[in-house]
Amino acid sequence: MNKTIEKSVSVAPMMDCTDRHDRYFLRLISKNVMLYSEMVATKSAIHGDRKKILSFSPEEKPLALQVGGSDKKELSQVAKIAEDMGYDEININLGCPSKKVQKNKFGACLMKEPELVAECINSMINSCKIPVTAKTRIGFDETEDFNYLNKFINKIKEAGCNTIILHARKAILKGLSPKQNLNIPKLNYQMVYEIKKKNPELEIIINGGISSIKDIKQHLKKCNGVMIGRTIYQNPYFLVDIEKEIFNVKDNPTREEIVELLLKYLEKEVKLGTKVNHVMRHAVGLYHGQIGSKNWKRYLSDNMMARDSDFQKAKHIMTIVQNNEKNNQTNL
Ligand SMILES: Cc1cc2nc3c(=O)[nH]c(=O)nc-3n(C[C@H](O)[C@H](O)[C@H](O)COP(=O)(O)O)c2cc1C
Repeated sequence: MNKTIEKSVSVAPMMDCTDRHDRYFLRLISKNVMLYSEMVATKSAIHGDRKKILSFSPEEKPLALQVGGSDKKELSQVAKIAEDMGYDEININLGCPSKKVQKNKFGACLMKEPELVAECINSMINSCKIPVTAKTRIGFDETEDFNYLNKFINKIKEAGCNTIILHARKAILKGLSPKQNLNIPKLNYQMVYEIKKKNPELEIIINGGISSIKDIKQHLKKCNGVMIGRTIYQNPYFLVDIEKEIFNVKDNPTREEIVELLLKYLEKEVKLGTKVNHVMRHAVGLYHGQIGSKNWKRYLSDNMMARDSDFQKAKHIMTIVQNNEKNNQTNL
């Protein structure tokens, strides 16, 4: 039987963003949100450098591995690998519209093949004990139809999956780039609410365009959880508002404390051969909306992205951060 994980708020899987360094950084800010990996193709997980592609720090947990694929044997293999490596959940990507992903027959194009999806999910469930979840869209191309979506969701449910993340915007498989398809067409939250109403036993997580505490509270009245992507990546300290307002955590770290801990992690990682920018690039948004945030961003992009960036530079940045923090406090 699958165990359940607290998922009122999750950070969305995002390619080139939610790698292990970003997740470590986010976890320094929030202990309560659920984290997701970037999508990993089944073949990479099975044949690639597993340590490089799939390893993570225990601090990142609870953590889900998101997988892309449509070969049930491969998917079940990856589900077992995820469980053995200590992931808390495995999530199948049924929502990505990119051409490359379509060519490999995974992501949103699988919404056209409910039977295949059900078989894939079923074989994943049969090969591991961690929860198997799905992330999908409310429709694709011309299809934005409640009955179609509900049938699709029911196929997933019958296959044994109880948690479905619904990006409230249909996938456009032809004619838009994946980037455009993150803003076009319009979101349809109502469709997600209707799915939850019709399937009260399912855990429905709503995703797409959620950017304030007010939004989160509103959606939590109708769904089991929210998943947030870009808002958190661009403004990671928003997680402190989430800790305060959603999880009632009163004692939260300052930005300065977060950077201090991040630098400790960086020091360890640099010794293992990680480049400074691979860690620090995720912290660019830490001062979002704050006085001095431009300096912080400029300093990071001037120094951290350089090939020869080293740990001393990171220490120097820390001094700038401390000064920023003081400025912010005196200017409040
Ligand atoms: C840079 C970027 C990369 C993404 N990569 C993935 C991915 O690997 N898997 C996935 O299911 N969704 C991916 N998405 C979609 C997000 O998970 C999410 O569904 C979408 O951004 C809508 O949420 P938001 O409006 O809160 O950002 C990506 C989005 C962005 C912006």
